[in-house]
Amino acid sequence: MLRALFVSLSRNRTLKERVMRWDFVARAAARFVAGERLEDGIRAIQELEAAGILGILDHLGENVESLQDAQRATEDYLLALDRLAALGLRPHLAVKLTHLGLDVGDAVCERNLRRVVERAAAVGTVVEIDMEGSAYTERTLALYRRVARDHPNTRVAIQAYLYRSAEDVERLIEEGMARIRLCKGAYREPPQIAYPRKRDVDANYVRLMERLLSAEARRRGAYVAIATHDERIIRHALRRVVEWGVPREAFEFQMLYGIRRDLQVRLAGEGYRVRVYVPYGTEWYPYFMRRLGERPANLWFVLRNLFR
Ligand code: FDA
Repeated sequence: MLRALFVSLSRNRTLKERVMRWDFVARAAARFVAGERLEDGIRAIQELEAAGILGILDHLGENVESLQDAQRATEDYLLALDRLAALGLRPHLAVKLTHLGLDVGDAVCERNLRRVVERAAAVGTVVEIDMEGSAYTERTLALYRRVARDHPNTRVAIQAYLYRSAEDVERLIEEGMARIRLCKGAYREPPQIAYPRKRDVDANYVRLMERLLSAEARRRGAYVAIATHDERIIRHALRRVVEWGVPREAFEFQMLYGIRRDLQVRLAGEGYRVRVYVPYGTEWYPYFMRRLGERPANLWFVLRNLFR
């Protein structure tokens, strides 16, 4: 309910313009967003690296409507890659295909994605394609396949709340292209296509995670980033890893900036590969609204900032 409400608020432009002007909201958003400038993102990545945690840098932005905006987003990513490389940093890059022009056209988006992935390969890093609402799933996977075939430094996110994901994971394993960030899913989807109950989403998450960790999937090149803060699922993953003798290089844990920092540090301290998703940029409104919808307690956190 709460999630559905916040996902629809995240798309409301009038509200966006108003809310972004309120100081207390911007202060609250700073818990989840490193800052508005590339330098803020870089600082957050450096702090994480000092704690033995790897980074994924995300320049916030989605659903751009013009060729020029898609071009600008692409150039910004290329600039960020060069700047990071000059500093000796190689975090992964996260991209949303609607930021690179998917709403403008598949060909435009593919061209932009290829440019980013090629530059990432040249500086020695990886591009992770975020998964957006279900209207984009099929096209996102098609573009991932086309680009990842030529560029193995590409990964894609899969959402456990979608019924179709079991089949998508199977096909990607078969094709030797299962380089997957497994998340639960953050958008509002109808019950015809996504599990409405959290407990079913969690159960499907565990099924897909186990499949990707299995010896057979690994033989076909599967690599899973277990992207969740759900401690129950993380403990389950760790049990399976021990039981099945999964090497630590075959998977990693991923979490979001500002969420369960204690758990991030603990897992990294135990020698597991941990990667944290660091968003930066001026377009923080929809990202922040999705984070609010995930946890009712976050609303109190926003209100506390009103009185600070
Ligand atoms: P769950 O919602 O069950 O939460 C488990 C626990 O985590 C909570 O009890 C709480 O302690 C903590 N927690 C979770 N969310 C919190 C919040 N917002 N604030 C404070 N605490 C919180 N989604 C998507 O659709 N496409 C994508 O590409 C991605 N990419 C992505 C990358 C990475 C690295 C992560 C970690 C997540 C995503 N997601 C995503 C978001 C994902 O789908 C999901 O919405 C969130 O991770 C919240 O779900 P959890 O798995 O954490 O479990």
